[in-house]
Amino acid sequence: MSQREAVGVLISGGGTNLQALIDAAQDPAYPAEIVVVISNREEAGGLERARRAGIPAVWIPHRDKTRAAFDEELLGALQEHGCRWVALAGFMRILTPVFLDAFPGHVLNIHPALLPSFPGVRGQKQAFDAGVQIAGATVHLVDAGTDTGPIVAQGAVPRLDGDTLDEFQARILAVEHQLYPMVLRWAVEGRIQVKGDAVQVDLRPGERRWIWGA
Ligand code: GRF
Repeated sequence: MSQREAVGVLISGGGTNLQALIDAAQDPAYPAEIVVVISNREEAGGLERARRAGIPAVWIPHRDKTRAAFDEELLGALQEHGCRWVALAGFMRILTPVFLDAFPGHVLNIHPALLPSFPGVRGQKQAFDAGVQIAGATVHLVDAGTDTGPIVAQGAVPRLDGDTLDEFQARILAVEHQLYPMVLRWAVEGRIQVKGDAVQVDLRPGERRWIWGA
């Protein structure tokens, strides 16, 4: 039997961050195992990525139901698969407190901006349009707000002269793929603690809570 911590990943889209987590977890020494992938969108490419990796892929539509009813179905599916942790990876729904209370301190999210700047949708475009010269991504613990929970780690990238929005977004996405597997490892190893609003991570030699992704 696997001693690894069971993680459920929630997605709504293409799932490149999901893929980064799947790839990391291919290594038997990685302390987390992705045991289920759930999407609110049937056409989400990430569901196919899960199937290809032999991971149960579940579609739970959110339309025509209350937020509470949707979250209850999510919870049911995650619990059915024995999840102890939940990683949001491009999941475009806000979770209810009832959901979060079922996984206290065990829900992570990745956001494509250096929070607390540019929360909400299309963080990369917000940053691009604002003309920021250092952009990036954030992995944080999830609370009931939108991209407001305690920050665990960040990856920073430059905006280069002549960048198109696509090039800028791709550079951010590449650092996301490094950041998320790193933080999920810390989480499931019990190395993340919240003290007030701040996070403490029990770092090993050579580890840092930031990545420079130039
Ligand atoms: C990523 O930029 C992530 O930060 C944001 O949504 C996007 C999902 O991309 N929350 P993907 O589906 O992982 O490729």
